Amino acid sequence: MVQIEELEQQVKALAEEGRERLEQAGSLEECEAVRVALLGRKGKITELFQLLPQLPPEARPEAGKLINTLKDQFQEALEQRLAALKAETIERRLQEEAVDVTLPGRPVALGRLHPSTQVLREIYRIFSGMGFQVFESPEIETDEHNFQLLNIPPDHPARDMWSTFYLVEPGLLLRTHTSPGQIHVMRKFAPEPIRAILPGKCYRYEQVTARSEMMFHQVEGLAIGRKITMADLKGVLTEFAHQMFGEGRRFRFRASYFPFTEPSLEMDMDCILCGGRGCRVCKHTGWVEILGAGMVHPQVLRNGGYDPQEFTGFAFGMGPERILMLKYNIDDIRLFFANDLRFLEQFSGGPR
Ligand code: PHE
Repeated sequence: MVQIEELEQQVKALAEEGRERLEQAGSLEECEAVRVALLGRKGKITELFQLLPQLPPEARPEAGKLINTLKDQFQEALEQRLAALKAETIERRLQEEAVDVTLPGRPVALGRLHPSTQVLREIYRIFSGMGFQVFESPEIETDEHNFQLLNIPPDHPARDMWSTFYLVEPGLLLRTHTSPGQIHVMRKFAPEPIRAILPGKCYRYEQVTARSEMMFHQVEGLAIGRKITMADLKGVLTEFAHQMFGEGRRFRFRASYFPFTEPSLEMDMDCILCGGRGCRVCKHTGWVEILGAGMVHPQVLRNGGYDPQEFTGFAFGMGPERILMLKYNIDDIRLFFANDLRFLEQFSGGPR
């Protein structure tokens, strides 16, 4: 037999235990452990109910009430504790994850123009000041425009000057230079005079080295008119070079050969690195080549729709990457298209 007083003791003790353990429970999981310990199938409160049959029958209703009250109170305390813990968790997360809206924002990295684009725009600026317009011409060309109409028939040894990517489609190729644009622009404007520059990408089937890329830019220039002479060529190119490289530089024109100009020449500048005394960059000559040029060949004028008895003209071709390399003493052309930001970000000038 169990006496009611004994049970009352146990109820009191369990009420106390429940309160203390809930207070100490620091997490939802710990609360759940306390619940199982008291109200689970083998929990201490659950087990109290099993004592009921051992009480004197007249004490049982009173005892049942006591245990039920204990159970209800524990459950209520458990819910309160759970609610408090949830609120605490939310509060803690709010504090931990708080955003300090007063902190300055992270700067957004600004893009800028590729150095080739920057120098191209500089070239446009200089030539537009001398009345040249920009004319675009295709990168995929016919053999006819890239070679034949420029006095380079099939099997002509001059084709060796341009290692060529041929397309699968017969007669098509990636232009090896911007000179085929001369034919396009002449056929568009003949018999009007022309002053145009033709920028764009060119492709050569070559071993990629510090000095040669498979893809690079060129800017072609073409002036056609009555009474245009080599003096005009020299004047325009010298003015360009002074604006591009600075007033102090010296230039020279040297005889050369291109099938589509006659006479042909190359323009050199005194070596920026050694000031003309001779170094590794200029191969100890004191001079570096900056572009190829010449008077438009009469046959090319005819191919473009001009009568060489009436019209003459000059043409030139330069490489913007080469200009940058000379200007900033860059010794590897591959840097331009390797997309290494450490290189590209050094060219911060120029319009965005
Ligand atoms: N197209 C020539 C080259 O790629 C350069 C050039 C252009 C020479 C115009 C003369 C006149 O080498």
